[in-house]
Amino acid sequence: MSRSFPALFLIIITTMSWGHLRRGQVMAFRSTPFLSRASGRGRAVPRLADTSSPRQASVARTLYHTSWTRLFSTAATPTGITVAPRIKTVDAVNAATDGAPVTIKGWVRTLRKQKTLAFVEVNDGSNLAGIQCVVPFDAVDETTLKELDKVTTGCAVEVTGPLVTSQGGKQAVEVQALTLRVVGACPAESYPLAKKRHSLEYLRSIAHLRPRTNTVAAVARVRSQLAGAIHAFFQKAGFVYVQTPLITASDCEGAGELFRVTTLDLDKVSQLPLAKTQQGKSTDQVDYKEDFFGKPAYLTVSGQLGAETHACALGDVYTFGPTFRAENSQTSRHLAEFHMLEPEMAFADLQTAMNNAEQMLKFVVAHVLETAPEDLEFFQKFYDKGLHKRLEKLVQQPFARISYREAVGFLQEEIAKDPSKWQFPDVEFGTDLATEHERWLAETKFESAVFVYNYPKSIKAFYMRDNDEDGGETVNAMDLLVPGVGELVGGSQREERLDVLEQKIAELGLNKEDYWWYLDLRRFGSVPHAGYGLGFERLVTYVCGIENIREAIAFPRYPGNAEF
Ligand code: 4AD
Repeated sequence: MSRSFPALFLIIITTMSWGHLRRGQVMAFRSTPFLSRASGRGRAVPRLADTSSPRQASVARTLYHTSWTRLFSTAATPTGITVAPRIKTVDAVNAATDGAPVTIKGWVRTLRKQKTLAFVEVNDGSNLAGIQCVVPFDAVDETTLKELDKVTTGCAVEVTGPLVTSQGGKQAVEVQALTLRVVGACPAESYPLAKKRHSLEYLRSIAHLRPRTNTVAAVARVRSQLAGAIHAFFQKAGFVYVQTPLITASDCEGAGELFRVTTLDLDKVSQLPLAKTQQGKSTDQVDYKEDFFGKPAYLTVSGQLGAETHACALGDVYTFGPTFRAENSQTSRHLAEFHMLEPEMAFADLQTAMNNAEQMLKFVVAHVLETAPEDLEFFQKFYDKGLHKRLEKLVQQPFARISYREAVGFLQEEIAKDPSKWQFPDVEFGTDLATEHERWLAETKFESAVFVYNYPKSIKAFYMRDNDEDGGETVNAMDLLVPGVGELVGGSQREERLDVLEQKIAELGLNKEDYWWYLDLRRFGSVPHAGYGLGFERLVTYVCGIENIREAIAFPRYPGNAEF
């Protein structure tokens, strides 16, 4: 809502985002090489399937297994993709222990020296546990003995030696080092990551180094698996992946939460070009004809409008990329830059969108339960004792579905018991539900995921389809609420009737000219269509059981913070 954050967002910002995305993809290739293995575009995940039946869980599992195993391989190094010659610690347990030396490369977590040997814990980011390297002083070369003196927490090392069954109880195998070399020293006095546990707030201030901690590395791995699973789900279901633009001239949500993109020099305010009146007199408005795009331009808040153009040609599409919102919000659920998954389906209604969202979530969570058990166990132990149960329940139990009117009724009943417990006790038809309301519905009332549909027209975006059945007061919209997070998904059936859409644009005071191309979709072969947006970082927060969305993304952007 806030207009207080219009900012100079030069195009370099978008370049950085794509660079970031590429890094994520490289991680996905490493353990889940879906692009190299993907074949066929069958409809193993039919988008119109009824997912509310009690057979949901087994359907989800079957879909997961049949499509996943063909698309992804989780075997140790099955790809033939070239990486540096080394064994990753995640693969060490399953590697042959035939006495042949292997090389481990990573960063030292701890060093323990005893009389005749040293224990060096090395972590290369491929798993939580890392690997213990035992360095027997009488069996290594002279150089190794000298190098050992340089080993500190945080330094990068290369250790070579056979994998042997570990004598300690903590790990199955360890490296019996023959050589150890320090690749990059790390001065202990100035290294900001000590051996102790650091607070998450402190780690945000060293976001460039925090991937070396267990929590942030585990989040990055789970996040990568989730992104890969999302692509796998939609590719398998025959959806076309569309990259919609990050720079836009239209405000999809109509909420005015846009970052401005400009090349006008805001440092020289007095030299900004000013628009003129018809009589040639300067006004106090900037003349955007002089700006890079010849009109005001912004970073997109959603890829939906672009996705609709392709759904209305290709049928089923999805876009999955960065979106930007200048909301002046410091909550644990909001970011100024976040990633949104936005599927869009032609010849589809709200039920189709809800069914698809439910299937997709069950699929991606089932995938993480299967592929990231070590990381999930870590989150369960340190962040959310009920994590495993909650995720299993999401996969197995049909999501609840209630209308907005029912939700308001449930809330009014509950709030009446003790209004003092609520920050926003006034709830009636037309109230934009607050996080405390959403979380109560998901956490207490339904104890699981719940779709709320048919929202009042007055609180939803212009593109949502007016509801024929509901006296004209509501639109065909839905939000999916989940425990711990609140709103995870927002979606709707789109208004496909030209006259109704034009009227809605006018009623909301939006400029019809900005949407000429969007209106054309309703002029030429218009069809009912529907879609939704899933906040990817909220999904990561939910799956990892962490409290704050700022840990769910590598470099969080929020008011007052664009460091790194
Ligand atoms: O409900 P929203 O605003 O929906 C849209 O943008 C639609 N155009 C999507 C569509 O139908 N294609 O946002 C969708 C989701 C929310 O449910 C929430 O999970 C997430 O995006 N989200 C945010 N996540 C992090 N930080 C923010 N500031 C967010 N705003 C929305």
